[in-house]
Amino acid sequence: MRSFVSIGLFIVVGLLAALATGFRSDLFTQLGYDQEQEKLQQRIIIKFSHVVAENTPKGLAAAKFSSLVNEKTGGKVEVQVFPNGILHSDETEIPALQRGDIQMIAPAFSKLSNLIPAWLALDLPYVFLDQQDVERAFRGEIGEMLFQTLEPHNMKGLALWSNGFKQMTSNKPIRTLEDFAGQRFRIMRSHVLETQFQALNAKAVPIPFNETYSQLEKGVIDGGENTISNIYTKRLYQVQKYMTTSNHGYLGYAVIVNQDFWNKLPTDIQDKILEAMKETTEWNYDQAAAMNEQQLKLLKENSRLQIYELAPEERTVWKQALYPIYDQYTPVIGEEIVSKLKQLQEQR
Ligand code: LMR
Repeated sequence: MRSFVSIGLFIVVGLLAALATGFRSDLFTQLGYDQEQEKLQQRIIIKFSHVVAENTPKGLAAAKFSSLVNEKTGGKVEVQVFPNGILHSDETEIPALQRGDIQMIAPAFSKLSNLIPAWLALDLPYVFLDQQDVERAFRGEIGEMLFQTLEPHNMKGLALWSNGFKQMTSNKPIRTLEDFAGQRFRIMRSHVLETQFQALNAKAVPIPFNETYSQLEKGVIDGGENTISNIYTKRLYQVQKYMTTSNHGYLGYAVIVNQDFWNKLPTDIQDKILEAMKETTEWNYDQAAAMNEQQLKLLKENSRLQIYELAPEERTVWKQALYPIYDQYTPVIGEEIVSKLKQLQEQR
């Protein structure tokens, strides 16, 4: 009789325990918890923070890089990607990287220019004509010279990624220089971009990327300049009536790692990360332009945005109005970089 009672009690206690743990078997694996933790500690974590959506050239490249690093290091290095500014905004990501709170970022060039004016070079109006120009600069001496400027700031440049050419958006049509007068345009914080809108008799308002939609919606600003992929994925087209495909400026990214963190990595791991970055960068160059093209099609088909393609002769007028910015900023950017850019433009 007693043994029946104890068996019954055993079953009831067992069932209650199973219910409490949801019938999970990991109650037992908790015994292996410490061992698992040790393995986790051996793993190298790279926190990669950026501000754009996942289905953009930068968002997709970050995800691809993460999976390539995982594959090439056999899971020893984990790249955790934080998109949409969920970890840091474009105003806080550079100091966070320098402090080592995060290990990798890919800011637009304008955002680096506040710390290192040489990066203003790539904000110059009409700096590149096409993707071929972009790649020649990114892979060549211009890219190398810009990477050197990062070193004194505890940052190491690993690659330059592409997004695409910037287009103008507003609630009024923009074709002639006069159309800009008196309007307020959102810019990324950058002296060259500020001067660009001043030259067009407009006002430039620096606003973080993830606040742009709401500021347009509230009417704090009238327009902006961005790539098709950012206009599309951040739904800026919902709060703008017109877009002019002007290709007047370029938006690309410097992929940067914290220098102290990098120096402490074993050489074989550094090599694998560089290999993954090289593959990702080639892939990014191929798909960035295609993505902007495909999203332009989607904007044409599915949005109310009125799209105007700037004619070549109108473009010449814009260019002439903006070209004096080169001379104005040469002393700030540095003679050498500006002359390399001009050489590139002359080779076209
Ligand atoms: C912007 O602020 O408009 C862009 O820099 C966002 C980005 O990183 O593409």
